[in-house]
Order: sequence, then structure tokens, then C-alpha cells
Amino acid sequence: MQSNVRPESMERITTRALADAFIAEQVAEIRAQVGDKKVLLALSGGVDSSVVAALLIKAIGKQLVCVHVNHGLMRKGESEQVIEVFKNQLDANLIYVDATDRFLDLLAGVSDPEKKRKIIGGEFIKVFDEEASKLSGISFLAQGTIYPDILESNGKKAVKSHHNVGGLPEYMTFELVEPVKLLFKDEVREVGRALGLPSAMVDRQPFPGPGLGVRCLGAITRDRLHALREADAILREEFDKCGLATKVWQYFISMPDMKSVGVKNGERYEGWPAIIRAVNSKDAMTATIEEIPYSVLHTITNRIINEVEGVNRVLYDLTPKPTGTIEWE
Ligand code: XMP
Repeated sequence: MQSNVRPESMERITTRALADAFIAEQVAEIRAQVGDKKVLLALSGGVDSSVVAALLIKAIGKQLVCVHVNHGLMRKGESEQVIEVFKNQLDANLIYVDATDRFLDLLAGVSDPEKKRKIIGGEFIKVFDEEASKLSGISFLAQGTIYPDILESNGKKAVKSHHNVGGLPEYMTFELVEPVKLLFKDEVREVGRALGLPSAMVDRQPFPGPGLGVRCLGAITRDRLHALREADAILREEFDKCGLATKVWQYFISMPDMKSVGVKNGERYEGWPAIIRAVNSKDAMTATIEEIPYSVLHTITNRIINEVEGVNRVLYDLTPKPTGTIEWE
């Protein structure tokens, strides 16, 4: 098994040629490790798990079983994209589980952010475990561990209970396959590009494991979650159009559990505020605010208040980290 320490001699993967060489080496290693056995992977659609899936598909094809759990807290179109890329384009052995109701029922009425995270993390493991137990002959578990995960897990006190939904219980005694565990994020992206994954997946901004659960602030309701998802999709669409999507590190909408008075079509209209967050950062430890042109803010605001049911105001959060964390909870 590969060691958890990146050798000093290991060249940084910065070019397509280096990515191709890494892929060839990993494909050979994976085949040697796995033989004709089956491998299970929780495929969230994030950069790391997507790249691991594509690598394994190249190495062992249908011996890889991917499980995509939709916890109902994905952004608009995300689960559909996982299915399109992996099932339709790469012909992967993909099990899709829509567990939306299970997660939202458990989360109903829960407003404490840490409790919400624990519920989402715990339920994710349950669903994944249930799917795994329906399968037979699985010997390996693939994981999208990357080098910063290894470096960070050397025990610092976290501000929020974190991070990766899908830290699996110890009784899941599979042998691990972690082909990108010595790579930094930019290298994982380079490998993903070389594997032919779409830019929407490879260049994806960071997205928390508990998803929109940490952005639908307080107790999650289906109607506010829906409004948040639609407003977030508009923000992403407009950032794509004006070129900010490739320039800004992380951008999204948070939506508090409060209503303010507004007016629509001459009548009182109580609605939620959509709060825009657009930050730049290198490692998420600190963050600065992206200057969004007024015309872009104007367009986003108009679209959200006109197109999203239940929202009557749009706000732009100008707080850097510190003092504000990137997410609101
Ligand atoms: P904060 O809000 O702590 O976030 O400044 C730093 C980075 O981590 C992401 N984040 C999470 N990611 N599970 C995750 O996988 C979580 O519970 C979680 N909370 C925050 C956040 O989006 C930002 O990139």
C-alpha cells in the first residue's frame, strides 16, 4: 500500500503530460491492487470523488460500483450531472439513491447548525451502508482522500464540526483504494481534465458535504430550500455569463429563517432575504470579498426577486474571514 507521505522527489503535476503519466501509473497500480475484485465508491460529484471514479473506471471498468446519494441538499442540476457524466457518458456502474425525504424528514424542526451537520453526516453513512449491504462481493472501498486531508487530519481544533460527510464507520472493513491521496487539489483537477471530465465538474468551486443544509439557515423547510436552490442557480448562471465564475473562489446564496415585509403588485409581500456571498481564498482559512460590478448585482437582484417565489430582498455580504466564516453556519 502507498505511504501517506508525499516523497520530496515527487514532481508537481502541472501539465497534461505529467497528468497522463500519473494516470498510466495509477491505472497499473489499481489493477495490481484490485485484480478481478469489486470496488465501492461514494460518488458525491465533487472534484475528488469524480476524479477517483474516472480513474477507476479507466482501470477496472464495471468492477467499480459507484453510489450517488442525493441527500436533497444538492445544488440545482448536480445529481443530474453526476448521472449524465458517469452513467450516460462513461457507462459506469452507478447506483443512484434519492434519499431526499429521509434527510429532510430528519432535519425538520432542527435549527442548531452542529446538530444539522451531525444528522446529515450520520444519515449519509446509514444510506451508504444500506446500499453497500445489498451488494455482494465488494472487497475494496475507494475514497477521494487528497493530500491536504492527510495533512489536516493531524489534529487541530475546528471552528465547526466538519468536514467530509462520508467518513465511514470502522466496521466497514474494506481495504482502501485512494489513488489521489498524495495529490494537491490543483493536481487532482489536472488529472481530471486529462481523464476528460467536464470543466463544470473539474473546476467546481468548493461545496460543503452537508450541501445547502448549511446555507438554508436554521430549521430547513422544503419551500425555503427550494427558494435557496433557485436563487443559487441564478447567481451561478449570472457569474458564468460575466466571467466571474472562473475568477471567484467560492460564491453562493445563504437564506436566513426570517421574513421581512415587502411589496409586490401593490400588495404586502413577506419574503426571505437571499444573501450573496462571493469570496476569494487560497485555503479557506481566511477570505476576502470579491468586488462584484454593480450592473451584475443589479441583474442578479432583479432576477431573484422576480423569478424566485418567496424571496423579496437580495443582500450582498461584505464581511471578510475573519470575522465572518465563509458559510453562515
Ligand atoms: P467556513 O465556513 O468554516 O468554511 O469558513 C471553510 C470552507 O469549508 C467549507 N465548509 C464545509 N465543507 N463540510 C464540508 O465539507 C462542512 O460542514 C463545511 N462547512 C464549511 C466552506 O464551504 C468553505 O469552503
